[in-house]
Amino acid sequence: MPRLKKNVSIRPMTLEDYPQVLDLWNASPGMGLSAADSRERIDTYLQRNPRMSLVAHTGPAIVGAVLCGHDGRRGFIHHLAVAESHRHRGIGKSLVDECLKELRASGIDKCHIFVYASNEEALAFWKHSGWTQRHELIILSKDIPLGP
Ligand SMILES: CC(C)(COP(=O)(O)OP(=O)(O)OC[C@H]1O[C@@H](n2cnc3c(N)ncnc32)[C@H](O)[C@@H]1OP(=O)(O)O)[C@@H](O)C(=O)NCCC(=O)NCCS
Repeated sequence: MPRLKKNVSIRPMTLEDYPQVLDLWNASPGMGLSAADSRERIDTYLQRNPRMSLVAHTGPAIVGAVLCGHDGRRGFIHHLAVAESHRHRGIGKSLVDECLKELRASGIDKCHIFVYASNEEALAFWKHSGWTQRHELIILSKDIPLGP
């Protein structure tokens, strides 16, 4: 895992990181958190996709985070966030690059992300990094109520 400038390093996310990661996500507008981001669900996600979700940290302080996984066919990146104090230092790009490296090592040759249409800054970041907006696709979703 790379060591970036100013003592920032990247390592796999663990469940122990959850409180700090949640704080970072909560402080990042445009994130779209839900019940799927509970500690239990993130635990499941990390177990299903070992070593693919990452944090950037300076010592014990987490300054960046991203969820990454795949379904056997395609890769997915969710919830990329870098602390405002640490933006524009290459941390977001490095987190994404590491995710793509892990996906490639698992034989996955395409990755998708979901971005709120209103999140213009994030869209600009992704497009700047060579990601293509898919005008021919629309996301449809349905709630599946749990229980009998
Ligand atoms: C989007 C975000 C993760 C970028 O993180 P970052 O660490 O500041 O980005 P980096 O420094 O790695 O930038 C990488 C490249 O993208 C460019 N870039 C960064 N933010 C940009 C923006 N808003 N618009 C255009 N380009 C941008 C940088 O100039 C850099 O270019 P270079 O490689 O040519 O030098 C960060 O702004 C963030 O956490 N935003 C809030 C949360 C969010 O919306 N996340 C996305 C959810 S889909």
